[in-house]
Amino acid sequence: MNLNLKDKVVFITGGSRGIGYAIAKKFASEGANVIISGRNKESIDTACDELSKEYGINVKGYVHDVSSSIETVKIFEDIINTFGKIDILINNAGITKDNLILKMTDEEWKDVIDINLNGVFYCTREAIKYMMKARAGKIINITSIVGITGNAGQANYSSAKAAVIGLTKTTAKEMAGRNIIVNAIAPGFIKTDMTKNLSDNVVQQMKDSIPLKRLGDADDIANVALFLASELTNYITGEVISVNGGMFM
Ligand SMILES: NC(=O)c1ccc[n+]([C@@H]2O[C@H](COP(=O)([O-])OP(=O)(O)OC[C@H]3O[C@@H](n4cnc5c(N)ncnc54)[C@H](O)[C@@H]3O)[C@@H](O)[C@H]2O)c1
Repeated sequence: MNLNLKDKVVFITGGSRGIGYAIAKKFASEGANVIISGRNKESIDTACDELSKEYGINVKGYVHDVSSSIETVKIFEDIINTFGKIDILINNAGITKDNLILKMTDEEWKDVIDINLNGVFYCTREAIKYMMKARAGKIINITSIVGITGNAGQANYSSAKAAVIGLTKTTAKEMAGRNIIVNAIAPGFIKTDMTKNLSDNVVQQMKDSIPLKRLGDADDIANVALFLASELTNYITGEVISVNGGMFM
């Protein structure tokens, strides 16, 4: 099946590890030009080396804080100068700083909103400037199951992820006339650095509550990102696709 991703330019925020890196590898294997960004220069350089060696594609990495609109504007300008276009944006960068509402500090609240919500807004605002001129583009936002269900201890994270769903639908409505397609993926419980510090007990409880009886892999999310970015889904916009093993239906 031809996904028509060869020579497309895809920018994946937080693409040096976890779900973002799994997405980067999927696009690289389809012949796309892959751009990744993240906080840590060493892990970005390593990921870029691996992607270009393994798949022989054009790769570029940026040290980037998505919560900075100034940095984001510069990176998009550089992407256009280097690649001439941006076809696909995957807003994947995210963090957690969990605490109960009563104990949550201003900083814990603000940091999570800045990165998980404001970052999606800044990148989307830049990407659509170029996509509108091209009258084509795909944007995929990585939200979370807890943006739909809420989760004790994650007021900051679940609020940001719920807001990303609103932003996804609004961007989809504003941009449909320009042929820019916008969707979100809501992962359940996925094995990455983000979830590696949970106790065995909590992990077991999670598994018990998942009808498919396993945690998700980063590839489970990457496969759906590839599908949503492909020509196979040109008539789907403003949707939130849950990828959670049936944990929430
Ligand atoms: N792992 C899960 O169970 C799970 C579940 C639901 C949603 N998600 C979401 O999936 C996305 C990826 O998560 P993951 O599990 O791969 O996490 P991860 O911690 O392994 O990776 C997060 C990535 O985001 C980058 N990042 C963090 N802050 C950044 C910033 N300010 N600017 C740019 N990049 C930044 C990191 O460098 C890293 O590459 C996140 O949005 C997360 O909220 C994950």
